[in-house]
Amino acid sequence: MAKTVTLTYEGKTYELPLIEGSAGEKAIDITALRKTTGLITFDPGFMSTGSCKSNITFLNGEKGILLYRGYPIEQIAEKSSFIETAYLLIYGELPTREQLDYFEYHIIHHSMVHESIKNFYDGFPNNPHPMAVCSAVVGSLATFYQNEISVRDEREIEITIHRLMAKLPTIAAYSYRKSVGRPLPYPDNSLGYAANFLKMKFALPCEEYQIDEDAAKVLDVLLILHADHEQNCSTSTARIVGSSMSNLFASISAAIYALWGPLHGGANQAVIEMLQEIQDNGGDVNKYVAKAKDANDPFRLMGFGHRVYKNFDPRSRIIKKLAHKILDKPGNKEPLLELALQLEEIAIKDDYFIEKKLYPNVDFYSGLIYKALNIPINMFPVMFAMGRLPGWIAQWKELQEDEDFKISRPRQIYTGAEKRDYVPLESR
Ligand code: SDX
Repeated sequence: MAKTVTLTYEGKTYELPLIEGSAGEKAIDITALRKTTGLITFDPGFMSTGSCKSNITFLNGEKGILLYRGYPIEQIAEKSSFIETAYLLIYGELPTREQLDYFEYHIIHHSMVHESIKNFYDGFPNNPHPMAVCSAVVGSLATFYQNEISVRDEREIEITIHRLMAKLPTIAAYSYRKSVGRPLPYPDNSLGYAANFLKMKFALPCEEYQIDEDAAKVLDVLLILHADHEQNCSTSTARIVGSSMSNLFASISAAIYALWGPLHGGANQAVIEMLQEIQDNGGDVNKYVAKAKDANDPFRLMGFGHRVYKNFDPRSRIIKKLAHKILDKPGNKEPLLELALQLEEIAIKDDYFIEKKLYPNVDFYSGLIYKALNIPINMFPVMFAMGRLPGWIAQWKELQEDEDFKISRPRQIYTGAEKRDYVPLESR
């Protein structure tokens, strides 16, 4: 007997189906609500609304659990690589050696961009924010491959996935190189994904570039930790754009813009700016905790709080360990780390943060590591986007393959003017 939830409205009783996920989450299926009751639901920000069923990522916000296709993030971060994790998220299973080699080969061999794309970078004003550049250039890829971007052709979807995974690091590295007036280099197919990005970003044409294997490994782990996070703002954006059957390049371009916001992926940049401000103003973290608690002060502790996690974000625990591994090395001392640790110590003991269940999220420590890797602060959200790319792709692909595929078109509650007649200009 299918489980239901009873709704009583205007003297009538309705039985709404109750659906249950594989991890025991329960939802009221309201797909027929308006048709049967005339009612819609109201849920700004989708605090209590599920947009889809998904097999990709599972979060338990109360327990601080994150699984990629069932595998705990802690194990994936320790044992996998970013390319293998991307394959797992996109195709659903850990790849065999042959599958991994095929996937990696095609990503390596699509890493160059069309030579004319380099001209785009001359067209931007001086020092443009790299998130705007990356979104614009990724969106333009739809013009270079416009005859092979069908959202229903398996082979065209596969090659678009390879092109996006391969070209985003090149596009991102170029956005930095242009801002510092350096030539735009070619990828190095002999290098791994993270090392290739670091070389494209930092190598100088006049000298041999030494790959810092530690830095490449840390970056690879950071990319893994950012790879997917169920129906977050930017992923939902990719799904909504894809729901009109718009191509994957367009959907990822939109997702990059959504991620840019300081409440979302832009928070890693905002955290460092906040820590720098605290340091520049004497290092009094208590003053800033008080500001964050003051309902009349719009200031928020960036890097704290989460829509889903009401416990520690499991990613922030891993990133915090990584930060210590990097910053505890001689010569890597970072005063902002001290401030971050003080802030965390105070905030997690403070009643306001305890009551509102505000813990450090993925963005709280990640910026400190990017800073230690000499990545400029406005590139931090770009690093998040590079990590989140396979998650966006996986979720978009799952949508296209969904037997319940529909265009996303929410309803609303109208609160505007009643019907009225037009008033001629001379009578206003
Ligand atoms: C990411 O969704 C994802 O999965 C996102 C992400 C991913 O991997 O994709 O995890 C990545 O975006 C992490 C979040 C990065 N953003 C920040 O660090 C910005 C600072 N945090 C917030 O602005 C906030 O916590 C959000 C946006 C993350 C979550 O906001 P919600 O779920 O809408 O919660 P809310 O804003 O309603 O806050 C609940 C209460 C409010 O107080 P009341 O109105 O109930 O009195 O907590 C307060 C807020 O004022 N609050 C904070 C706070 N965050 C929330 N108070 C002080 N400092 C903060 N950081």
